[in-house]
Amino acid sequence: MDRVVLGRTGLEVSVAGLGCGGHSRLGQAQGHSVDQSVRLVHAALAAGVTFFDTAAVYGTEEILGAALKARRSEVVISSKQGIVQSGTSALGQAYLSGREYAALVEGNLKRLGTDYIDVFHLHGVMAHQYDYCAAELLPALERLKHQGKIRHIGLTERFIHDTGHAMLRRALQDPHWDVVMTGFNFINPSARGRVLSAAQQQNCGTLIMFAVRRALSQPKIARELVLNLGAAGEVDARLIDKNAPLEFLLQPEIAQSLTEAAYRFCRHEPGADVILTGTGSQPHLEQNLRAISAGPLPGSICDQLRQIFGNVTSVSGN
Ligand SMILES: NC(=O)c1ccc[n+]([C@@H]2O[C@H](COP(=O)([O-])OP(=O)(O)OC[C@H]3O[C@@H](n4cnc5c(N)ncnc54)[C@H](OP(=O)(O)O)[C@@H]3O)[C@@H](O)[C@H]2O)c1
Repeated sequence: MDRVVLGRTGLEVSVAGLGCGGHSRLGQAQGHSVDQSVRLVHAALAAGVTFFDTAAVYGTEEILGAALKARRSEVVISSKQGIVQSGTSALGQAYLSGREYAALVEGNLKRLGTDYIDVFHLHGVMAHQYDYCAAELLPALERLKHQGKIRHIGLTERFIHDTGHAMLRRALQDPHWDVVMTGFNFINPSARGRVLSAAQQQNCGTLIMFAVRRALSQPKIARELVLNLGAAGEVDARLIDKNAPLEFLLQPEIAQSLTEAAYRFCRHEPGADVILTGTGSQPHLEQNLRAISAGPLPGSICDQLRQIFGNVTSVSGN
């Protein structure tokens, strides 16, 4: 497994990170047992994964903490806490105070069974929430960092609602963030010009989510999504084969599956540090780690993807 330095954190981590949220939550969303999820984490570790992402809201912190207990010093744990009062809209403005936020981080530490979290993020922030976060919650995170409870400060966007990255475009004008998490995939690659280049200039580490998500893990949904983008005029319909819009990726010399193409596309994007993969399935984990460790897609295919999808900003692929 290749490794990468995560921006100014200086942490050297695997280029593939295990995402413990999304639609799978280590298989917990499909009713898998805790033991099955622990085995999945151990399989990732055995394959060389050293970066693990979770969050309070995923319900996987305890499982991850237990699975990594004996290997704590060898891995990097990323976790998060939302910014609004529980029971209120995640998109609203019933914010936690800095003091309330710091108290909640004690819960993250406890569930993970650790006395420090390597990267701690404000979770799922929208553009209209950013100024409050920078003014009130960032100082709370800095105090936690000073106390040694968290090591680096991160920020994640709400890609489903912010498909054009308005929040991170604003945030990356500031020097505050050690790491950011952004949505990026070959259907909406707009983070390329809007997030990744600014992050590189700031030496801010980047975590890629939504490489595959629902659309690119289910060919029928992917096909419909592409045809809809053509019908809406967001992609040039003349560039799409209506009967087989993504089949050009599935040639023996290119990729075996859409998921393989999707992870390889992200892995070789300049400025993309860690590619998160979320799954509850060991065979999928093995396939995905193989894809993330494989070489880039051919340049002509990357050009074709850029030509078709280069201007898409309206969908996340969720
Ligand atoms: N705002 C935020 O902070 C935020 C938001 C979203 C996600 N995240 C983080 O980003 C991580 C990555 O996002 P994600 O979990 O949605 O990951 P993803 O890797 O883009 O997509 C995972 C989905 O694809 C399926 N899948 C994975 N590999 C497959 C394969 N080889 N064949 C067929 N289907 C496959 C999974 O189902 P199976 O279980 O069946 O494999 C799952 O439904 C999350 O786990 C979470 O840690 C953060």
